[in-house]
Amino acid sequence: MFTLAHLSDPHLGPLPDPRLLELASKRVIGYVNWRRNRAVHLTNGALEALVADVKATAPDHIAVTGDLVNLGLQREIGPAAEWLAALGSAADVSAVPGNHDAYVPGSLDRATRRWAAHMAGDDADLHHHAAPVFPFVRRRGNVAIVGASSAKATGPFMATGHFDATQALLLSELLKALGHEGLFRIVLIHHPPIREATNWHKRLVGGSRFRAAVAEAGAELVLHGHTHENTILSIAGPDGEPVPVVGVPSASQLPGGRRPPARYNLFAIDGKPGAWDCRMTERGIVGHNLDIREIATRRLDAAMLPPPNRGDEEHQGAQIGWSGAASAGMSPLRRGSGTISIARRMARKPKLR
Ligand SMILES: [Fe+2]
Ligand SMILES: [Fe+2]
Repeated sequence: MFTLAHLSDPHLGPLPDPRLLELASKRVIGYVNWRRNRAVHLTNGALEALVADVKATAPDHIAVTGDLVNLGLQREIGPAAEWLAALGSAADVSAVPGNHDAYVPGSLDRATRRWAAHMAGDDADLHHHAAPVFPFVRRRGNVAIVGASSAKATGPFMATGHFDATQALLLSELLKALGHEGLFRIVLIHHPPIREATNWHKRLVGGSRFRAAVAEAGAELVLHGHTHENTILSIAGPDGEPVPVVGVPSASQLPGGRRPPARYNLFAIDGKPGAWDCRMTERGIVGHNLDIREIATRRLDAAMLPPPNRGDEEHQGAQIGWSGAASAGMSPLRRGSGTISIARRMARKPKLR
């Protein structure tokens, strides 16, 4: 059996005071937003408690799906590298970047070069300080971890991700080859590859390419962050069977905010091609102190998954599943609340990013 812990969106703080020149960009909006929102609701205390619990469970591997930092400042990138190294060795921790890591032009290249050891495939040459190439592949036991990047600098008020044709082609080829090797394929990407999972200004541009790659080549599990919500959705595999798409709340979120408090998911993977067994355990903050507890555990199989996303909006109500919800004070699992939640989400005005 192989165990993988998935956490996301630590938005590491504290944010260093930006210099005046650094604020002469989209960052001025992000800085105001951080002071008003993230500095209050995302804390290192919650993150430290969560990471301590991750380490106590001693997973075989840890996946981090982006938004390590806030404004892509040079002085955020170094501490984030130290945080990654403290989380685990580069061989045992796989990370992909998020939109906040690519906050303004130039941020993504600087960040990913610095974090390359945790974002490189097994056969990458790390001696030339090159930026990592996505998607990367890491083989661990009967599991293949495929790291895709949706991170790209965007304009003010936008937090979109981008998945281009080159990555889509590579992803499809890699997934086919890894499928032939008989591996359980886990794809990491920051933005959810499903249109209805988030607002228009936070969507994944090119999400249809990602879905087409999975529909053509297959995958066993897709993990994402970005929404700061706990969700279980699905997209179609080669025979139309649902491939689970699992999102996790921010690893730094305090209780009492608009988003669910800090959480991570632990996946226990066993079996063989055609008979995989994947059990998902959610652990995180429950209540108003920072104790980490088990929230829910379930087998990720076709019977519990919502129907695959079909890429159009008229079916959106049936495709949201809210996981582990009742104990976290959210709407219970798929009690018809998905439609309401989506409607609310659609009605929200874009907020400062
Ligand atoms: Fe985030
Ligand atoms: Fe994000």
